[in-house]
Amino acid sequence: MSCQQAEQPWLESVLLAEHRTIGMLLRCIEAACATCEGGGQPPIERLKSVVEILGDYASRYHHAKEEMLFALLRRSAKGEMESFVRVLDNEHDELDGCFATLDLAVRQMAAGTDGHAFVPQARRVCELLGWHMRCEEEKLIPRLRSLLSPEDLNVVKEWMESTDRHLGRERKQRLEEETLVLAREFGVLREAPVG
Ligand SMILES: [Fe+2]
Ligand SMILES: [Fe+2]
Repeated sequence: MSCQQAEQPWLESVLLAEHRTIGMLLRCIEAACATCEGGGQPPIERLKSVVEILGDYASRYHHAKEEMLFALLRRSAKGEMESFVRVLDNEHDELDGCFATLDLAVRQMAAGTDGHAFVPQARRVCELLGWHMRCEEEKLIPRLRSLLSPEDLNVVKEWMESTDRHLGRERKQRLEEETLVLAREFGVLREAPVG
């Protein structure tokens, strides 16, 4: 079996699994927005946990991995794909700023100092990150197979593994488990986990 045949399903499955975790966090935030818009108060401690996990997991675990991919793709991809990857990379920077602003908005709401900043900022994060992930799933991830050389695949695998090792694999798993619990509590878990 060639390197390319062996490694690509692994790469795609890691990225898509992380998207599923991020998607659950976004659905929790959307549920909290709907509660606020209906005049209610979302479960604030749980919402704080959702936003904390989102910033941590999406930026440090997921985006860090993709940015390695982007660097390799920008070196080899041409034309439209090169510009597309540059846009995705820039969106990561924008999202990092949005996560920080959203975290502040939730803390202000929890402290009772400002309850109005949360919904617009939360909607913005959900829209931007939801769109960003859909673009990656439709236009980038299915094409990785043809865009990356076997050598690049080895580099990506080593980088992804070292990222998780450095940040902590058990910690990552704990964040994913906490996400499942929060998704259940917010009533947005669409699929029952196996086991
Ligand atoms: Fe991304
Ligand atoms: Fe992604």
